[in-house]
Amino acid sequence: MRTQVGIVGAGPAGLLLSHLLHLHGIASVVIEARSRDYIEHRVRAGVLEQGTVDTLREAGLGTRLDAQGLRHEGIELRFDGEGHRVPMTELTGRAITVYGQQEIIKDLVARRLDEGGDIRFEVSDVRVDGVSGAAPTITFGHDGRRETLECDFVAGCDGSHGISRDSAPAGALEVFEREYPFAWLGILAEAAPAVDELIYCLHASGFALYSMRSPTISRLYLQVSLDEDIEKWPDERIWDELAMRFALAGSDWSPTSGPIIDKGVTPMRSFVTEPMQAGRLFLAGDAAHIVPPTGAKGLNLAVNDVRLLARAFDAWYARGDDALLASYTHDALRRVWRVQHFSWWMTQMLHRFPGDDEYGHRVQVAQLRNVVESPSYATALSENYVG
Ligand code: FAD
Ligand code: DHB
Repeated sequence: MRTQVGIVGAGPAGLLLSHLLHLHGIASVVIEARSRDYIEHRVRAGVLEQGTVDTLREAGLGTRLDAQGLRHEGIELRFDGEGHRVPMTELTGRAITVYGQQEIIKDLVARRLDEGGDIRFEVSDVRVDGVSGAAPTITFGHDGRRETLECDFVAGCDGSHGISRDSAPAGALEVFEREYPFAWLGILAEAAPAVDELIYCLHASGFALYSMRSPTISRLYLQVSLDEDIEKWPDERIWDELAMRFALAGSDWSPTSGPIIDKGVTPMRSFVTEPMQAGRLFLAGDAAHIVPPTGAKGLNLAVNDVRLLARAFDAWYARGDDALLASYTHDALRRVWRVQHFSWWMTQMLHRFPGDDEYGHRVQVAQLRNVVESPSYATALSENYVG
């Protein structure tokens, strides 16, 4: 088997790259470890920056997004039992759209398959070889056979636990990382959201986030400990904890509860791989970098990477021009480090760190108060949040 660009991973990065390459007339094959059903139902991100929405629309992927996506023009920061709205659109002219990552995956898989795209699901034992030469290969097990895909280039889009990163020659890549001493417990519930906009909440017991997927589905998160046992969180305990953290002084407002249809714990981690390329291997999305989810950035960064990568492959195939491929790392990293800083800043401002004392909490509250009272601070947060 031969293709122009072999893509490892059918997450947002790999699938969107395959689609954008197709729009440029460049062939690709996508290799995915999981089943189609699994990736179409994996509950993850939900907040799309304006630029992400624009990219999806320009690529002809806007139909369901425009019909079902929820446009939000502000967020609430809640602390000390009080809510404060940050009017992002008023401050920046831009907005975010709430649309589930698995919906983007469904849109992309359907479109690629409709247009004759080649996606191999449920592959095993994937190896990437020869990235230092002109003819890299991807080998994998599929339908009981061992297959070899010969490529001009390999795009490693296989997420933070993938194998692409380790396929670079020893010593070619450097990783910068930070682990956080807590995790998020996320739920999806059949409950009408009690709010119109997202709430990021700091409470003495830890962070909480109110989000949603539709007028009937809520998505909520709680800061929990790193080694949290999900069995210790029956539904009732989750709703009690959410009500306690989101409580407003002098009001009996609380999140609307309902049947919980998905529940999971996500550790919080950051890393950046530099460079994001080695020979003919190019890394994109979570394979190259991850951020803690507090800034809602991972998916948006993945989209930004593949937008740059598709343009660079197009320049190479259309004109033999390798300048954009050569500058891919440089071009992508500017945004990656901006987002690393923003995600770190949001995380340290909104979470309770083990060992934090009352002093630490009061400094966080002072910082939040500054953000909601100073138009300059609120604008800086908004610019980063809407992208
Ligand atoms: P992935 O989505 O991880 O896709 C990688 C794919 O590669 C997967 O399908 C995987 O099965 C496959 N794969 C792995 N190994 C192999 C292999 N060896 N061979 C073949 N295939 C392989 N981001 C935001 O922008 N906004 C948010 O609001 C947000 N919230 C989040 C909330 C949570 C709880 C979590 C966990 C993440 C959140 N993120 C958010 C981050 C976002 O989900 C990720 O950044 C995004 O999924 C990255 O896309 P990707 O395509 O790079 O990687
Ligand atoms: C969602 C996830 C996030 O990480 C975030 O910061 C905001 C919203 C969500 O899943 O809706």
